[in-house]
Amino acid sequence: HAADAHRTDLMTIMRFVLNEQSKHPGSRGDFTILLNHIVLGCKFVCSAVNKAGLAKLIGLAGETNVQGEEQKKLDVLSNEVFIKALVSSGRTCILVSEEDEEAIFVEPDKRGKYCVVFDPLDGSSNIDCGVSIGTIFGIYMVKHGREPTLDDVLQPGKNMVAAGYCMYGSSCMLVLSTGSGVNGFTLDPSLGEFILTHPDIKIPKKGKIYSVNEGNAKNWDAPTAKYVEKCKFPEDGSSPKSLRYVGSMVADVHRTLLYGGIFLYPADKKSPNGKLRVLYEVFPMSFLMEQAGGQSFTGKQKALDLVPEKIHQRSPIFLGSYDDVEEIKALYAAEA
Ligand code: AHM
Ligand code: MG
Repeated sequence: HAADAHRTDLMTIMRFVLNEQSKHPGSRGDFTILLNHIVLGCKFVCSAVNKAGLAKLIGLAGETNVQGEEQKKLDVLSNEVFIKALVSSGRTCILVSEEDEEAIFVEPDKRGKYCVVFDPLDGSSNIDCGVSIGTIFGIYMVKHGREPTLDDVLQPGKNMVAAGYCMYGSSCMLVLSTGSGVNGFTLDPSLGEFILTHPDIKIPKKGKIYSVNEGNAKNWDAPTAKYVEKCKFPEDGSSPKSLRYVGSMVADVHRTLLYGGIFLYPADKKSPNGKLRVLYEVFPMSFLMEQAGGQSFTGKQKALDLVPEKIHQRSPIFLGSYDDVEEIKALYAAEA
């Protein structure tokens, strides 16, 4: 069909979210406005990441200021852009960023009802070599009718109203859940719009890939070691799993979501809580996994049930295909 060659009905992320929100009676579009500002941040970071290699060679405008100070690091720059966008949306009251020690309380006259927890540019070890990196975010709603406090963000992941990530890879993709499934949008650079390309993503029930930093194996606990051994030497006659590990959580989780399998960042003897942060790494990715029909487990409990005590708290994490996570859960249960 001629119509197929050139799609004329472009479902942008804004149109998609407006449609979704209109199903909620009394919705005034606040969430859509908030998301619009997150999307702006993602587009900015995407453009900065794409130019990162060139910036060194040709010197992009604004790269050095009048005093000749060095260009801001990409992660610092991304953080500033997100914070300014979120504050000026007028829809946020507390922001927690991986880049800032303290939570940011938005001044009263710019406050709204949402709290945003985010890692503006995750995968720092991959920035300078041009490998995929990403932004991760989660959104809570403040408890109504009182001054916002840290307790508003120290909530279990299951209380999030939305979560997502943007991957700056071979294409720029934003994957989002507002609690009714997972949808993926690809940035069309010529339009500057995220277009729905991956509607209603469901993770395969079982996968053929495991993803973990095996360099830490000597310090793993018994269930993790046993699980990875089983991936390589299955006891039931099935074929071994393949290993894929980018070292960018967004890229590793994105592949896991689309192809199936399991992503692990376990505890080890050196870091008993693993490496990844509960609020803006573990929770949003767990939220997406569950919404896509997968599971997420900390080694002790369902990841989304965890109640964080500190904003930068870490937790071990195992997430991915339902059946694969079921196996690691069984190994931890047998250990207990
Ligand atoms: P970062 O916040 O310093 O970028 O660290 C987070 C990243 C994740 O994207 C990734 O899953 C993990 O660290 C990889 O860690 P490691 O290099 O220990 O395997
Ligand atoms: Mg990070």
